[in-house]
Amino acid sequence: MKVLVIGSGGREHAIAKQFNDSPSVTNVYVAPGNDGMKNDAECIGIDATNFEALASFAIEQRIDLTFVGPEQPLAEGIVDFFTDKGLLIFGPTKAAAQIEGSKSFAKEIMSKYDIPTAAYGTFTDAEEAKAFIRQQGAPIVVKADGLAAGKGVIVAMTIEEALHAVDDMIGNQRFGESSSRVVIEEFLDGEEFSYMSFVHDGQIYPMVIAQDHKRAYDGDRGPNTGGMGAYSPVPHIPEHVIEEAYKTVVVPTVRAMTEEGVPFTGILYAGLILTNQGPKVIEFNARFGDPETQVVLPRMASDFGEFMMALMNKEPFELTWHDDAMLGVVVASDGYPGDVVNGAQLPDLTKLNGVDVFHAGTKADGDHFIGNGGRVLLAAAKAKTLEEAQTQVYNKLNEVEWNGFFYRTDIGWRAFQSK
Ligand code: AMP
Ligand code: GLY
Repeated sequence: MKVLVIGSGGREHAIAKQFNDSPSVTNVYVAPGNDGMKNDAECIGIDATNFEALASFAIEQRIDLTFVGPEQPLAEGIVDFFTDKGLLIFGPTKAAAQIEGSKSFAKEIMSKYDIPTAAYGTFTDAEEAKAFIRQQGAPIVVKADGLAAGKGVIVAMTIEEALHAVDDMIGNQRFGESSSRVVIEEFLDGEEFSYMSFVHDGQIYPMVIAQDHKRAYDGDRGPNTGGMGAYSPVPHIPEHVIEEAYKTVVVPTVRAMTEEGVPFTGILYAGLILTNQGPKVIEFNARFGDPETQVVLPRMASDFGEFMMALMNKEPFELTWHDDAMLGVVVASDGYPGDVVNGAQLPDLTKLNGVDVFHAGTKADGDHFIGNGGRVLLAAAKAKTLEEAQTQVYNKLNEVEWNGFFYRTDIGWRAFQSK
């Protein structure tokens, strides 16, 4: 089969590579992709939101399945567009993608269907938002309602910080339209994990879980980012908690979407936190997580292409996973998640041979790569244990000089502290 992957980041590199490694798949195209994934897929120079050109390509090349990586084309309706043209595409419709694109929409669904999550209020008026914050006290969480590339959440430890976040989001329109409405939410304390499922027409195939590291610096300090590293499995989240999350979150959410008239197809990503009262939802995404995908998908033992076709055709399939652990570390440009300067030269990446490298923001420049974005790449290792995987990745990363780039040196620490 021929597959088209939409997007250009490390997540899409992992998706493309998984398809490329599937015996059932003959050709993998990525639109637009990036220079670093050329060994695993053919990159085509079409932007991820140019639906007309993408659909024409899919028709001309007789693409069997299009797989959408990022949230933007989903929120803009790429699935509706392809489906109207009779093309097979995996991802939620524009209406269903709201589960990620509008935090207030997701919150309303959860409250209506008793899906466990933090107590909250929704505001468009800054003064009302501030009054609510003063009444609730700190710590408290302020979230831009719309898409903000993982940066629209302020976990405020003081009331002042929360008030400032409201001024910044509603007053200064920090994230434009996305933050003209904010969700203010109870602070939840506990271990976080990412639980993703393949969903189509009521069928649910859960994946192995992962843990992301959202903060920019070691010790989980600094600003929130899109994610600085991840690992799977998450040994300190017990199996019974995953089963509980499946029953109390994943299944009811898929049912709720159908009942609300917005049935969900695609990756349902539940960002969960294990509280004293069990797992609760922090956020839903309507797509694969980045960087979680880079450590979850390579653990799939089944043929990815074959599985996707069985899912879309509603044929039974036994989806299996490897026992090996995987741990990945993001290399980012200095300054990330703030403004970064592109163009710094990356070291010779062949020095990383032996670990898997997923390219996110890189560009070829002569015989080397240069940085081209905030998160540049992710280096990951698969091993019998997480400890071994961590050692392998850091041994490689530490062998080279990363001028103009940085990475966290403690990815995986939560898994090891309980030992
Ligand atoms: P989100 O973009 O919604 O995943 O939020 C980014 C990060 O903020 C999460 O990974 C959590 O670490 C933190 N966060 C979000 N909501 C809450 C909450 N209600 N309580 C505590 N931390 C939160
Ligand atoms: N790593 C979190 C996300 O993809 O939203």
